[in-house]
Amino acid sequence: MAESKPRVWVSQPLFDDVVAQLAEHFELTCETQVRSYSSDELAECLAPLDGALVTLNERIGAAEIASARNLRAVANVGVGYNNLDLDALSAAGIAATNTPDVLTETTADLGFALLMATARRITEAEAFLRDGQWGAWSFTTLLGADLHGSTLGILGMGRIGQAIARRARGFGMRVVYHNRSQLTPEVEADVGASYVGFDELLAASDHLVLVLPYTPASHHVIDTDALAKMKPTATLVNIARGGIIDEVALADALANGRLAGAGLDVFEGEPKVRPELLALKNVVLTPHIGSASLATRRAMVQLAVDNLIAAMGVGPNAGHPPSLLNADALIAANTGGAIVGAKKNGATKTTTTKR
Ligand code: DGY
Repeated sequence: MAESKPRVWVSQPLFDDVVAQLAEHFELTCETQVRSYSSDELAECLAPLDGALVTLNERIGAAEIASARNLRAVANVGVGYNNLDLDALSAAGIAATNTPDVLTETTADLGFALLMATARRITEAEAFLRDGQWGAWSFTTLLGADLHGSTLGILGMGRIGQAIARRARGFGMRVVYHNRSQLTPEVEADVGASYVGFDELLAASDHLVLVLPYTPASHHVIDTDALAKMKPTATLVNIARGGIIDEVALADALANGRLAGAGLDVFEGEPKVRPELLALKNVVLTPHIGSASLATRRAMVQLAVDNLIAAMGVGPNAGHPPSLLNADALIAANTGGAIVGAKKNGATKTTTTKR
């Protein structure tokens, strides 16, 4: 009797032609509607699976995988993976992957778009025009701040931070950054950025962009105290994760002239956006579109598909997913493409073997 194929699920509609590649190796189920899942719903979806391809909408931790006895791999479509509890996945021997690199330049572009739109008050200016408020051209209407000649601060200097720094050089900006670890002198020279302490970053920046990962340590790192250290003329852009900013403190600073403007692509309670932010004119708001060019979103899905196939022990990279997050959860063994892994209970490539 033919062995049944491992069961794989795609949690949201992505690009049908790209995810269809999974059908060559797996019994594939794809959601056709964008939806959000409660923890119980997710646990129910994951329970019968061998592998899952998910997005940042799906929060997967110990509770969600408790009944998923055969689950061996979770491929996240996104570079940020704060939706995954890596400790819980690793402890259960489930490989987790993300999609770095392919979105770096596109996300840096959006960061720059928000920097420019915020400094030059683009969305406020458009609303002014559409509302019929443009009665006569005036010399002092909608004055903004320059990017050229200003100091750009970058908090978080990974791939996207470095891509933003490179763009800033073309705009004639001075770039300072703060990061967990300082870049080598060679990389600093290449991207044209100087390392400073956190407080100095806040004080020196005319425009500050947040590009750091969201972890417990970075939760509300931009709070009332941090905002008070910034110039009242400064602008703040967030393309990382909403929880990095205390949004109540930010809205207060923006409403009371303690910060000139903000450009936000991410929100702590997204897709809900705080009414205090929605009410302000000096905020440019976008719905988490950092990586949303057609080519990049397709490349992200392709990488997630490649990751999942490899993490499940099949295909040309069997056992070696291109962007594995928890190597400790996976021991690739070259036994006919099988992954022998699962630290906890020794999963194999067969669908019947329990973790
Ligand atoms: C990511 O990749 O983390 C983005 O935020 C989702 O596009």
